Amino acid sequence: MKSPTQRTALVTGASSGLGLEASAQFAEQGFDRVIITTRTAEKAKTTRSQLETRTGKKVFETLILDNHSLATAEAAVTQLADRGGQIDVLILNAGIAPTKDLRQSDDGLEATVSASLVGHHLLTMRLLEKDLLSANARIVIAGSEAARGDVPTFKPLDLDKVAAENFDGDLEAAIDAQMFMKAPLSYKPSNTYATTKMFVAWWAAELSRMLPQGMTVNAVSPGSTPDTNAINNAPFYMRKLMVPMFKLIPGMSHSVADGAGRYLEIALLEDGVTGQFLASKPGKMTGPLEEIKMDHIDNRAGQHALWNKTVELAGGVGYPTRDSAPTERRLAG
Ligand SMILES: NC(=O)c1ccc[n+]([C@@H]2O[C@H](COP(=O)([O-])OP(=O)(O)OC[C@H]3O[C@@H](n4cnc5c(N)ncnc54)[C@H](OP(=O)(O)O)[C@@H]3O)[C@@H](O)[C@H]2O)c1
Repeated sequence: MKSPTQRTALVTGASSGLGLEASAQFAEQGFDRVIITTRTAEKAKTTRSQLETRTGKKVFETLILDNHSLATAEAAVTQLADRGGQIDVLILNAGIAPTKDLRQSDDGLEATVSASLVGHHLLTMRLLEKDLLSANARIVIAGSEAARGDVPTFKPLDLDKVAAENFDGDLEAAIDAQMFMKAPLSYKPSNTYATTKMFVAWWAAELSRMLPQGMTVNAVSPGSTPDTNAINNAPFYMRKLMVPMFKLIPGMSHSVADGAGRYLEIALLEDGVTGQFLASKPGKMTGPLEEIKMDHIDNRAGQHALWNKTVELAGGVGYPTRDSAPTERRLAG
């Protein structure tokens, strides 16, 4: 592996919270290029200035990415290709907490899944296609303990059951209903968020089976980190009850530095842990990261179906074929 001084990290959702902190930590680790994505040019400017002030380093480059707009992912990759160089660490951190009422992107996609998954997928596929990821690239996508299903009020949906009961067993149709909040499904803030984070873990597992040897991808939960902006738009019970309670109980939350540090822990691993959902131990919200082995996370059929649906939503852009043509790759089974 290259030494940190030759390494490049790209962090999405760098304007606040865990993304901002992780960007600073990569610079502090000695990375000589840290590409930060924000949704607006104004945020790019203030974020870069904040990071330069904190770290005393001039290693930050800005890029616009709004996961609600696939065009921004395409434009971001074009710019990266023009700038040259390869990315060693890709932190797909952008995401939102659930809001009280359903929010959707312009194309009707439920907002938590739109902010966390489809734009990140397109970005990653295009980076692979254009050979902009280094041979030992580490890809980390933000997961959450919520996906485990053992956090009070957060239950990922049983998509197999939804498919069996409503869609003749068609898992892709069930995933589509969840992503677009179509009947018979309805929006339940914490369960929707938990399901989105399960999708993220499924996406990482599926992608890990396609990546060339050397590259890794994992879904990593930063753990319960209340001092970010995530909670600002969350429903009342989360803002005023759950999070204040978590902050009072030892071990139920940790600092933004500890949360972001989990991304770096996995991104800097030299060994090839890949395709895993890494989070706090079942029943815990902080502490050491552990590979989460649960049947609903290890659902291979769900992983295939989620991948196929994500490819479709990204305009048919799947894992690049050998000749780099941006074609969909559907897996058997
Ligand atoms: N905090 C926790 O306890 C916790 C626990 C588990 C997982 N996570 C995950 O950690 C990640 C970071 O969250 P955070 O707690 O640091 O919250 P945060 O402070 O609100 O940061 C979220 C970041 O994502 C960006 N973002 C939101 N929607 C976006 C979109 N459509 N396209 C691109 N960027 C977008 C935000 O940009 P703007 O400034 O423009 O809004 C911001 O930079 C999320 O994926 C979250 O689900 C957090």
